[in-house]
Amino acid sequence: MDFTSAVKENPNLLVLHASSHRTSNTYELWKLVREGLQGIDITEIGLRNGTLSDCSGCPYSTCLHFGEQGSCFYGGVMVDDVYPAVRKADAVLLLCPNYNDALSANLTAFINRLTALFRTYRFYEKAVFALVVSGYSGSDIIAEQVISALNMNKTFFLPGQFAMMETANNAGEILTLPGIRERALTFSARVRDFLER
Ligand SMILES: Cc1cc2nc3c(=O)[nH]c(=O)nc-3n(C[C@H](O)[C@H](O)[C@H](O)COP(=O)(O)O)c2cc1C
Repeated sequence: MDFTSAVKENPNLLVLHASSHRTSNTYELWKLVREGLQGIDITEIGLRNGTLSDCSGCPYSTCLHFGEQGSCFYGGVMVDDVYPAVRKADAVLLLCPNYNDALSANLTAFINRLTALFRTYRFYEKAVFALVVSGYSGSDIIAEQVISALNMNKTFFLPGQFAMMETANNAGEILTLPGIRERALTFSARVRDFLER
């Protein structure tokens, strides 16, 4: 009951996605949410196919060895861009399209590869938020995966109502949902409230 989060000097939001800007409903939803986050320092990183190798499952001592150097066996965009961005961020927002009632492969690879950083680093002060879009159903399953992987397993702070969940299938359909802009701005306000607290 005595918990208060750390005061943030210049709050930064890290947004991770693996979507095609042209067709993704999830990315379109992010653009609506972003309108309510003007003035916030935002780092956006795309983890599209080919940019990120999945974790190779090194032995613990190898993972620890690389992790202690702020690195990971595979290096690449994860070590060069994503680890520094996660360290800097006060909150991470994952853009999560529902693919087969699961987080997309690239986001899962991101979470797996966080393990090396996690060997020497805890994320208690960093919040995790998610935008989840499903074509038909299952957004709750994706939100649960984010809770399991990043809050319970990787120690990220879980704010109340951390996920915005919407249903849209065809490209651009998200923009036709009644009340979508208002809901997106309500979500932005929640993220802003955490960052500026
Ligand atoms: C490979 C793949 C698997 C999908 N699996 C599901 C699913 O299991 N359940 C569902 O409701 N929608 C599913 N969808 C539809 C997407 O969730 C839908 O297109 C949504 O708009 C989010 O994806 P987007 O941001 O790429 O547009 C799937 C789409 C793809 C490409």
